[in-house]
Amino acid sequence: MPNEKQSLLSVNGETLTIDDAWLGESLLYTLRERLGLYGSKNACEQGECGSCSIMLDETLVCACLVLTGSAADKDIKTIESLAPEGSLSTIQQAFVDTGAIQCGFCTPGLLITIKDFLDENTNPTDLEIREAISGNLCRCTGYGRIVEAVRIASKTHDETEGGY
Ligand code: FES
Ligand code: FES
Repeated sequence: MPNEKQSLLSVNGETLTIDDAWLGESLLYTLRERLGLYGSKNACEQGECGSCSIMLDETLVCACLVLTGSAADKDIKTIESLAPEGSLSTIQQAFVDTGAIQCGFCTPGLLITIKDFLDENTNPTDLEIREAISGNLCRCTGYGRIVEAVRIASKTHDETEGGY
């Protein structure tokens, strides 16, 4: 049982104990600074850029806008859950193959967003892809290669391997 200064968080299938989280602490801060999950990036801390995107009970959210305390009984999935260490998911591989990564700062948020999108729409149009990633800001790529990566991932995805 956690004491009154501890919170339990379910992150990527593991139950983790957080000590002394402060009242206004964001989930992004907790993930990065307390749990060492540095995949979720911190760019704006205002819900504007999408670089901190995670799944919270199957819903795409900006971790910078979620209070850690409110996530205590929820299922949290971060970019680290996308593929086992040392391997790449379908969409990660497509990003590599198309050169959709430049500085990479936006990439984790985009990958979480795109996985959520492709799980619902397996055969998207370019317009639907652009709309899906419109909340994720990228300063480097011009988005063309990202759209191409999503297109390729949607075609190469093998249902039997479970997810993008
Ligand atoms: S850091 Fe959360 S949306 Fe930009
Ligand atoms: S690759 Fe640099 S911000 Fe997107």
